Amino acid sequence: CGIIGIVGKEPVAGRLVDSLKRLEYRGYDSAGVAAVVDGPGGGRVERRRAQGKIRNLEAVLAEQPLVAQNGIGHVRWATHGAPTVTNAHPHTAGRVTLVHNGIIENFAELKAELKAAGRTFESDTDTEVIAQLIDAELATGLAPLEAFKATLDRLTGAYALAVLVEGADNLVLGARRGSPLVVGEGQGEMFLGSDALAVGPFTNRVIYLEEGDYVAIDHDSARIFDASGASVQRPVKVVPASAVMMEKGNYRHFMEKEIHDQPEGCQRTISAYVDALTARTAIPGDVDFKALERIQIVACGTSYIAGVIGKYLIEQLADLPVDVEIASEFRYRQPALRPGSLVIAMSQSGETADTLAALRYCKAKGMKSAVVVNAQESTMAREVDVVWPIHCGPEIGVASTKAFTAQVSVMIALAVAAAKARGTIDAAEEQRMVRLMLEAPRLIAEAIGLEDALKEIAFDIAKARDVLFLGRGPMSALALEGALKLKEISYIHAEGYAAGELKHGPIALVDDQTPIIILAPYDSYFEKSASNMSEVMARGGQVVFITDPEGARHAPAGARVVVTAPASDPLVSTLVMSAPIQLLAYHVAVVKGADVDQPRNLAKSVTVE
Ligand code: G6P
Repeated sequence: CGIIGIVGKEPVAGRLVDSLKRLEYRGYDSAGVAAVVDGPGGGRVERRRAQGKIRNLEAVLAEQPLVAQNGIGHVRWATHGAPTVTNAHPHTAGRVTLVHNGIIENFAELKAELKAAGRTFESDTDTEVIAQLIDAELATGLAPLEAFKATLDRLTGAYALAVLVEGADNLVLGARRGSPLVVGEGQGEMFLGSDALAVGPFTNRVIYLEEGDYVAIDHDSARIFDASGASVQRPVKVVPASAVMMEKGNYRHFMEKEIHDQPEGCQRTISAYVDALTARTAIPGDVDFKALERIQIVACGTSYIAGVIGKYLIEQLADLPVDVEIASEFRYRQPALRPGSLVIAMSQSGETADTLAALRYCKAKGMKSAVVVNAQESTMAREVDVVWPIHCGPEIGVASTKAFTAQVSVMIALAVAAAKARGTIDAAEEQRMVRLMLEAPRLIAEAIGLEDALKEIAFDIAKARDVLFLGRGPMSALALEGALKLKEISYIHAEGYAAGELKHGPIALVDDQTPIIILAPYDSYFEKSASNMSEVMARGGQVVFITDPEGARHAPAGARVVVTAPASDPLVSTLVMSAPIQLLAYHVAVVKGADVDQPRNLAKSVTVE
C-alpha cells in the first residue's frame, strides 16, 4: 500500500491524488483521501474513498470536492478485509482519521477489548482498530501526540501510519515499524510518504525515519521521536530526481536496502497468499493439490535454494513428493517425468534461460506449469498455466535477497495450502500456521536489528580464505545460501553443507583459520547441530553460531560468537534466519571494498545458458 500526508499551503486534494498516482504501483484495490476542511465550520475531517483505481477516486472528488490544505491519502492493496469502499482507507473513529500500511497482529484482541468498552466498528480492517484506540486515548484527556504514542505501545505487528486528529488542524502524525515512512521537508510545508516517490512531486529533501520512529509534522517542523519516546534528529537527504524511482534511501547499496525491505516484501507476498481475516490460505490460480502426484521445481542460483526450502516444507507438511533441480542439469539429462505432476519454475526475473528451457521441457511433456516470479510481464509468466507472483518490488542488487525471502514466503504458503487440501493438517492447524506467517515480517525486522553485531563479525570473516556454512533440515539449504551470498559479493571461497556431511569431507578443511558459520535455531535438529559445533571446535574451528534465544542457552560453550536471532516457529525460521547471513555477507563485502551491487562476472538476469 502507499501513504501520503501533507501539511501544506496549497489546495490539498489534487496534491494527494498526484502523489497517490505515483504510488499506484504499490496497490490499487481502492484509494482514499481525508482532509481538514477549510472555511466556515472548518476544522472537521472529511473523507473521500473509492474502490479500484485512482481515477475512480478522482471522479468522487470531482463530485464532492474537498476544500482543504492538510490531508492524508492511501492506495490500498488489501490484506484484512475485501477491497470495498468501507474497507478503503482512510479509516475514522471519533476524532481520528488515519491511513495504514502493514498488518496489526493483535488486532483481534484489541478489537474485542474496544468492543467490550462499547465502541462500534464500521469496517473489517485491522486499521480501524488503531483509529479507535487513538480516539479512546484522546477521550481520556491525552493530547494527540501522547494518545498516539500510547496507542503505538499497544500495537504488535508492522505498520506505517499517517494520522489526522480533529481539532488539531496544523498536524499530521506518522509512525514506522516494519513498513517504511519518510518525511519530506518543504518551504513552510511538511509531508509524509511511504517512500521518497510519494513526496517527490513536492520536495526532494527527505528524512528516512528509522524503525520504531514516530513523528509529528506541522507547517514548519517535523518532531521525530524514537520508540522509547526520546526526541531524535534524523539526517535530511537530498534525493536526486532521477534516483527517486529506484531510490537507495539511507543505504549505501541497493543490496543493503533490499535486505531491509524484506519485512515489507514478505508481508506483501504473504498477504497475497492468505486471507488474514479468516487466517486461511488463499492460493491464486487453479491448482488441485489433492490430485497432484508430484511437484518438480526447476531453478538456478538463489531461486534454486528457495526451491529446496520448498521441498522440505511441502514434503513434510503435505506428504507430497517434490523434486528440486538445477535447471541447467534438468533440461539436458532426460529426466523421467509423469503426467499428474506440476512443474514450478522459480525465477525472480522470469527470464533465466536454463529455467525457461526446463519449464518448456516439462510443458512439452504435458505437465501443468506454474512460476514463482517477481517480473509478472516476463516470458515465463506469459507461458505458464499459473503465475504465483512475489510482491517484494523490483530487486536491483545482483545478489538476490528480498526476492529470495519472498520466494520462500510463497513456498511456505503453498506447503500449508497443499497440506490442508490433502488432509494432512486440519483447519485449526492451517489457521495457526497462517498466523505464524503473518507474524514473520515482524520477526524478520527484529533479525535485521542484529546488523551492528554482524558488522563486527564481518571484520573477522573478511580476513578468511575459506568459510564453511553448516545447517540441518531447511537450515542446510540456508547454509548453501549463506555460502553463495558470501562468495558472490565478497569473493571469499565459501561452502554450504548439510552439517551431517561434515565428517565425510569438509571437516578436513577445518583449522583455526577457518570460520564455521552454523545455523541452528532451537528446533528438532538442534542437538545434532550442536554436536557438529563441538566437533569443529575440537579441531580449532572458529564457530559463529547463529541461533535463537533457546538455542543460545543450550549451545555448547566455546563458540567464537553467538548471534541470537528472534525465536521463530520452524515453519518460518528460514525467513528469519536469512537476514543474518545476508547482512554478514554484505558487511564482509563492504569491509573488502567490493562492488556489492554489481559483483564481478555476475549478472542479475542470465538470459544465456
Ligand atoms: C543470477 C543471479 C542470481 C539468481 C539467478 C537466478 O545468477 O545473479 O541472484 O538467483 O540468476 O535468477 P532468477 O531470475 O531465475 O531467479
